[in-house]
Amino acid sequence: MQNLPFRRFPNTRLRRLRTRPFARVLTAETTLSVRDLILPLFICENEETQRDIPAMPGIRRVPLNALTQLAKQINRLGIPALALFPVIAPAIKTPYGLEARNPDGLIPRAVRQLKKTVPALGLITDLALDPYTSHGHDGVTDARGTVLNDGTLALLRDQALCLAEAGSDILAPSDMMDGRIGFIRAALEAAGFTDTLLLSYAAKYASAFYGPFRSALGSRANLGTRDKRGYQMDPANSDEALHEVAMDLNEGADMVMVKPGLGYLDIVHRVKTQFGVPTLAYQVSGEYAMLKLAGQANNNEAELFLETLLAFKRAGADAILSYYALTAARLLGSV
Ligand code: PBG
Repeated sequence: MQNLPFRRFPNTRLRRLRTRPFARVLTAETTLSVRDLILPLFICENEETQRDIPAMPGIRRVPLNALTQLAKQINRLGIPALALFPVIAPAIKTPYGLEARNPDGLIPRAVRQLKKTVPALGLITDLALDPYTSHGHDGVTDARGTVLNDGTLALLRDQALCLAEAGSDILAPSDMMDGRIGFIRAALEAAGFTDTLLLSYAAKYASAFYGPFRSALGSRANLGTRDKRGYQMDPANSDEALHEVAMDLNEGADMVMVKPGLGYLDIVHRVKTQFGVPTLAYQVSGEYAMLKLAGQANNNEAELFLETLLAFKRAGADAILSYYALTAARLLGSV
């Protein structure tokens, strides 16, 4: 690249390499593989009648009695891991979200079932209280509705131990409380879970792109008009993401995540360049919905998704969480 100013047309014609498909393949700087993909799944009880998620066309909630069959299919396609999110009945939600630490809760049961039936598939479980709280926040609140940082940590720790005990391979704190990685890591070590991985949602922004996810979980109505700007990051900030990542690595995170994805590829690139640690990115629900609708309007859904997934790789992501992972795996398998 240093010689760039001295390269002159017509000695250099960059289109030469683009003319033949085989040469394009040989010189591609980035590749996208099914091995780069993680599929998020919304898990529900067998009685849940609302399987469709209108805000996410093509994505359905998965009841426990259909989970194993789907997981086997995912494993056969070569997707290395799943990220599980629970659809919790409104009657079970409380201000403290105590269901999050129930060893017989939906996610622990899903984890145990999958570890028995499809043990090779990596399982990522979310640490945050929002699926379980009546107010829809990721932590517990005081009387004025402020989300309490230190007051939330013990509950996250309990949730972490409960999920590690169930057999979850990777715990992914997505709550953005300060100090939770260190707090959870210490508890895992003390309890003997020395191999449980921590994937920190380190740079998680307060984003409008999470809307369909909240609808899928049923937490949108609980949150109402409240927002998460008091703990999730301001989309204006970039240096702060590096600070977050540095702290989480220091506290014992094995991997870090940037979220949302497409609008934040500059952050992915900075994090990967600066720290050189496993860096994941999340193509979130609103991005999925946006691309899905654009794909329908222009009849080019597959190309839109594959192009964006490749862009994540180019920016430096080691793996990508995407609701399109299953379809992408089928597409990638057939090339
Ligand atoms: C909750 C959580 C959210 C997502 C993953 N974990 C939503 C939020 O922070 O409100 C969003 C994922 C998506 O939009 O696909 N802690």
